[in-house]
Parts: sequence; C-alpha cells; structure tokens
Amino acid sequence: MPSMTSQVRHALERHDIAVCDGYWNALRGLDDESYLPNSQLMHDINAAMFSQPRVAALRFERHSQHEASGSRFIEAVARRFVDDANLQAQLLNHADDEARHCRMFAALAARFAGDAPRNETIHPVETGEDNIELFNGDLANFLISTHTAEVRNLTILTQYGRILAASQHLEGDRARQVIDRIHEDEMRHVAYTAAYVSRELERSAKAHELFSVYTDSYVRDAWAEVSAISGNLARLTRGQ
Ligand SMILES: [Fe+2]
Ligand SMILES: [Fe+2]
Repeated sequence: MPSMTSQVRHALERHDIAVCDGYWNALRGLDDESYLPNSQLMHDINAAMFSQPRVAALRFERHSQHEASGSRFIEAVARRFVDDANLQAQLLNHADDEARHCRMFAALAARFAGDAPRNETIHPVETGEDNIELFNGDLANFLISTHTAEVRNLTILTQYGRILAASQHLEGDRARQVIDRIHEDEMRHVAYTAAYVSRELERSAKAHELFSVYTDSYVRDAWAEVSAISGNLARLTRGQ
C-alpha cells in the first residue's frame, strides 16, 4: 500500500503547509498494516466491492450520506462556534465541498446501481444538526477529529482510484474522474486542517491523545465497512 505519510506529505506540499515534527510522529502509526483503512485487506475488500457494481452502489450511497451529514456539521460549527474569520471561511468552503461530494457520490451510486431496486437496508444517518446539539464547543477536538477523518478519506479515495484504474467496468473511467476530483478536494481539507492540528500537537499532550483516539475510531469504522461490504457481497452475489 502507498504510505499514508507520503500521501499526506504530498497534500501538504501541494498546499504549501508546514507542520511540526510532532505531527509526523502522530501520523507514524498510519503506515502500519494494523491501520485498516490503508491495509491490503481493505484494498482487497474494495476490489471485490467494485467487481459487483450494486455493492459499490451501496457504499457510494453511504459515502453520500456521510458527506451530507459532515457538511451540515462543519457548517453548523463554523457559524455557531468559530470567531476567527479566516478559519470560519475555510470551514464554510469545506462544508460546500462536502455538500458537492454528497451529490457526486449519489450520482455515482445511481450509475452503479443501474436498474437495481434501491436498497431498503440503508437507513438515513444521524443528521449534522442532531449532533451539533451535543457539541461542547471544543474546537481543537473538532479540528483533530475532522483532520483524522480527512486523512482516512484520502486513503479510501486513493484505493478507489487505483482499483478503478485497473477495472474493466463500463463506468470505471467516469467513476475515476469523479473520485479524482473528490480526492483533490480532500487533499485540500487534509492540508488546511493539518496547520491547525500541528499547532495543537505542539502545545498539548491531550491533542496527541485525541489524535490516536480518533485514528483508532476510524479503524473500528473500517471494520464495520468490511462487515457491511462482505454482507452485501454475500447477499447480492447469491442467486446470480
Ligand atoms: Fe468529502
Ligand atoms: Fe473532506
């Protein structure tokens, strides 16, 4: 698998963002095979998913929902909790990007689903507005959580791009263009949030703790994805 550190380094160089040494230390664990989002196992599961377009369609629908709730949450935090005009503008742009990704993933889902009936097992995810009521205003925590999620997104999209580049699927080329576009945006999200996260890592031990807590939580999320994709593969491959 391509090293996460080098993917992030590339994103930061592209956007001219410098970070402290502690940042690179915090990132180090992400190059281990135990960081499931960037593992060979996850890559193989994703490749199997793309071999069954209807299964890929279901994942694109989940991505679309997560992008929508992420967009609403980021926008709500920016408007209600952020005084710094520069950070607020960056977050509002970010929220717009995620809303656009929501629509792009929904369009991909529709293309990959073809004329298959829409899946009734997808439940609407909690909305950002619901979560914002629980948000305690801890911006450092929010930025670390957002940043680690964006790093995870970069990994997922890099894998999709590699798999689609080798795919024979009719929608493969078009899907790769969409994924590449989203990947570009996610690099920008990784880069600008890294600048804030680096500052937090420099001044607080708690920031290091939060960084690994969130990274671990995205490993658990990835296991849930492995389980969901495997279940859908078993269900939708049966009877073909
Ligand atoms: Fe996104
Ligand atoms: Fe993003």
